[in-house]
Amino acid sequence: MNITKVVIPVAGWGTRSLPATKNIPKEMLPVYKKPAVQYVVEEAMQAGLTDVVFVNNQNKRSLEDHFDRNLSLELVLKRAGKKDLLEEVLRVSNMVNIISVRQKEQLGLGHAVACAQEVVKNEHFAVLVGDDLIFSAEPAIAQLVEVAKTEQMPVVGVMEVPKEKVSNYGIIGGEEISPGLFRVKKLHEKPRPEEAPSRLAVVGRYVLPPDIFSYLEKVQPDSQGEYQLTDALHFLARENRLLAVKVSGRRFDIGDWVDYLTANIYFGLKDEELKQELTKSLKELLACSS
Ligand code: UTP
Repeated sequence: MNITKVVIPVAGWGTRSLPATKNIPKEMLPVYKKPAVQYVVEEAMQAGLTDVVFVNNQNKRSLEDHFDRNLSLELVLKRAGKKDLLEEVLRVSNMVNIISVRQKEQLGLGHAVACAQEVVKNEHFAVLVGDDLIFSAEPAIAQLVEVAKTEQMPVVGVMEVPKEKVSNYGIIGGEEISPGLFRVKKLHEKPRPEEAPSRLAVVGRYVLPPDIFSYLEKVQPDSQGEYQLTDALHFLARENRLLAVKVSGRRFDIGDWVDYLTANIYFGLKDEELKQELTKSLKELLACSS
């Protein structure tokens, strides 16, 4: 199994993050010094995936521009002798070949993935959800790719969530075949806590087979009119063709304000130059608000 392509859906409206996202894509909101989506692209690159396919819409072109050259800015930085910044700007521009497809109507994650069919063609591919950041020594998607190649099976990434949060996620039910590896028997999209088959939630990392597109065609819209990727995965699970890997790492959902703000602090604290002052400032803030 050769996996080179990664589909990154970024076409959603980001309504949970309004009004910040009225004119700025949610995936372009800064997390410390970089837009959120850059972390997602870097994770894919670190895992050795080479071709990034953004599923985008007409209002979010700044996202593609971020990974393109900006000749005027480069000239300004060059003239000002800001070598380090110039190098960083060029590094981002050279990070990926931009392949972009349009999702003309925002009909859900399953629909967004289906929009990439013509580019993906007949290959296994990875999906990284553009607003889901996961940090670990071994990139989250690399953990999935490794299992997919060894087991020759599609794989989803899961993480344990508190019982009261299961209704925000797709939850898997299955059998643990080795530590942290599950054969998925069923998937419930946003179950009530008492009906959830486990507390293992599908997070935004997947390795999918090309025939997922035929299953996506069979998916019916949910009560919100959205086509869910989870429903297509359910078909794979029913055929005993789906594994789940418990992903290790720290996850931030950029559409959730607590996660978003925590992610900024997380990276700020990792910067040695900032750490001391930021810690002091946070302590003062906490003392005032308690
Ligand atoms: P979300 O459900 O978190 O994003 O989808 P959203 O729909 O933009 O946000 P809210 O719920 O209105 O706040 C996860 C990812 O899938 C993309 C989003 O851009 C986001 O990165 N997505 C979602 C699409 O590309 N198309 C869709 O139709 C829906």
